[in-house]
Amino acid sequence: MKIEIVKTNYKTEVDALIIPVFVDDAQALARIDGMIGGTLRDELVKSEFSAELGQKIMVRGRDKVKASNVVLLGAGEKSRYKTETLRRLGGEISKIADDNYFSRVAIELPKNSTGNVWALAEGLWLSEYRFNKYKETSETPKLKQALLFLKNPNINHERALQGAALAVLGTTFARDLVNEPSNKMRPKEIVQIAREIEASTSQINARIFTKKELEEDGFGAINAVSAGSYTEPYLIHLVYRPDKGKVRKKIALLGKGITFDSGGISLKPAEKMSNMKADMAGAATLLGLFRVLPILELQVEIHAVLPVCENMLSNKGVKPGDVIKSYSGKTIEILNTDAEGRVILADGLSYISKKIMPQIIIEFSTLTGACLVALGENIAAIMTKSAKLKRDLLRASRRCGEKLWPLPLEQDYKKKMESDIADIKNISLDRWAGAIMGGLFLAEFVPPEIEFAHIDIAGPSFFEKSTISYIPSGGSGYGVRLLLEYLRIVSQ
Ligand code: BES
Ligand code: MG
Ligand code: ZN
Repeated sequence: MKIEIVKTNYKTEVDALIIPVFVDDAQALARIDGMIGGTLRDELVKSEFSAELGQKIMVRGRDKVKASNVVLLGAGEKSRYKTETLRRLGGEISKIADDNYFSRVAIELPKNSTGNVWALAEGLWLSEYRFNKYKETSETPKLKQALLFLKNPNINHERALQGAALAVLGTTFARDLVNEPSNKMRPKEIVQIAREIEASTSQINARIFTKKELEEDGFGAINAVSAGSYTEPYLIHLVYRPDKGKVRKKIALLGKGITFDSGGISLKPAEKMSNMKADMAGAATLLGLFRVLPILELQVEIHAVLPVCENMLSNKGVKPGDVIKSYSGKTIEILNTDAEGRVILADGLSYISKKIMPQIIIEFSTLTGACLVALGENIAAIMTKSAKLKRDLLRASRRCGEKLWPLPLEQDYKKKMESDIADIKNISLDRWAGAIMGGLFLAEFVPPEIEFAHIDIAGPSFFEKSTISYIPSGGSGYGVRLLLEYLRIVSQ
């Protein structure tokens, strides 16, 4: 859909003029009533419109308004209004257009700010997303053109629109990767995508470790997890270096890239396995970011490390009770082969610590079902010892609407992963604090001088059913917009 910023003009001929209104805003209703010759009053009496978020009322356009229809769209309580409200309204507008076959609408923005333009555009574009390449017939979104009515449009509004377009491009790129089934998006296909990103710009280079190199270099954890599968594992290392200017900061990102998680010998029950093509969502987030990174021109060196493999079961696979040696030199007793994410990420963390030596590591993984139990589908958990990293990431989260909530890295619980025969076990034997146990395990592979944040995205990376207007079911692309905001904060 094409989005255009224009000066408010009620004479514009569109299928609908959409006006968000707040709860109890009698003044706004009176104004709109005046615009359409007093015909709104009767409608309001008939309907139960209270302007709750997403509620709507539709009347014919007449008098001063040349639009065929006028839609009043509830924006909720004015006191609870934030940019996220506009993203959600963007999603609602897409639905209204689909239901009513509107292809061209005008939307009046409640406030003139650039943040509002950005958020509304994100909501409109993100809700337009479909993944229907494997369907013979599929419906396409009806809305083709949206005019954003502003009292005084200026160049900053245009920039906001471009910013939103970039965020959406990265996010939908990640969604596509997550939505691809595991027979189409195997480790080697992910490598192919990393290669394409590398080829698209001189600022990004890729180093890719093959199975043979992983074996020679001692990536024992990745090798153990991937051993049960016929498909070969890779470690992808992408680096973005700005063209000019002095680089002050070096940030490393790490993403879990399990293209299918059967659980291995500790096999998952069938109903818990069906969405496990999405167990590479952490890796997809980083690829989505790198897809748009060169356009941002940030003065930060950014590394993305993606261990990618399948977690399958066979006579060659790792077995419960096996002891393996990780890239760090630490040995791991694998007591549950379904706690494989932390195992491959351990090698990723040690590789980053030894070879990249950044100030900061931020890691994204669909790590634990326990995180979903704790926070549900909308919210990711952040675990970090660094107050600054936590503050910056939470700030980025509030700005972009991708929700994050802190969980404590309770040090006493580390004892539960002490092994009788190895340096550490990959699980604790009781069921408590499953998400935190994952974070504690990972933190053991990061030296104290590096600030480290673990973000468990098991919830918001994949929606079985859509509950947020601008996020269709399936992969959400969670984390791309969070990282974009975070990088904006730290590069200032
Ligand atoms: N990929 C899963 C975590 C997961 C579950 C992500 C549900 C998304 C939705 C992970 O590899 C896993 O299986 N974790 C185990 C850990 C346990 C064995 C300690 C889990 O959560 O059950
Ligand atoms: Mg390149
Ligand atoms: Zn697993």
